[in-house]
Amino acid sequence: MKFATMRTRLLLALSASIAVGMMASANAAEDAAPAAGATAEEAAPAPAKPALNARKLFATNCSWCHQDYGMKAADGPKLAGTSLTEAEVIDRITRGKTPMPGFRKIMTADQIEALAKYIKGLKDPGN
Ligand code: HEC
Repeated sequence: MKFATMRTRLLLALSASIAVGMMASANAAEDAAPAAGATAEEAAPAPAKPALNARKLFATNCSWCHQDYGMKAADGPKLAGTSLTEAEVIDRITRGKTPMPGFRKIMTADQIEALAKYIKGLKDPGN
C-alpha cells in the first residue's frame, strides 16, 4: 500500500511538471509566431537597427522641463526653433547646462543624437 501511494505521488508530480513545461513551450511558440493575419509585407525582416523612438525618449526625460514635447517653455525653454546647431544641441544634452542635467551617463550617443535630430526637426509654432 505504502509503495502504491508513493508511486501515485510521483506520477502526479511528474505530470504536473510536464504540464508546466508544455505551457512554457506553448508560450514561447506564440511569441515566435508572426501575428495572425500579418501579410507577407508586414512580416518583412525588421531593419538591422530599430529606429529609436526619440519622441518617447523626450517624453520621459525632457518633457517635465521642456513642455509639450519641446513646443512650449516651462522650467526649460521651448526647443522648437532653437538657434543652436544640431552639434550644439547634442553637446547641450550630453553635458547639460545648469539647471539642466547632462544625460551622458544615462543615454547612449545614439539616443542623444536621435533627440537632437528630433529637436531640430520641430517646427516653431511661433508662440
Ligand atoms: C531640470 C529641467 C530640464 C530637463 C530635465 C531638461 N532640460 Fe533642457 N534645458 C533646461 C534649461 C533650464 C535650459 C536653458 C539652459 C540655459 O541655456 O541657460 C535648457 C536648455 C536646453 C537646450 C538648449 C536650447 C536653446 O535653444 O538654447 C536644449 C537643446 C535642451 N535643453 C534639450 C533637452 C533635452 C533633449 C532634454 C532631455 C534629454 C532636456 N533638455 C532635459 C532644463 C531642462
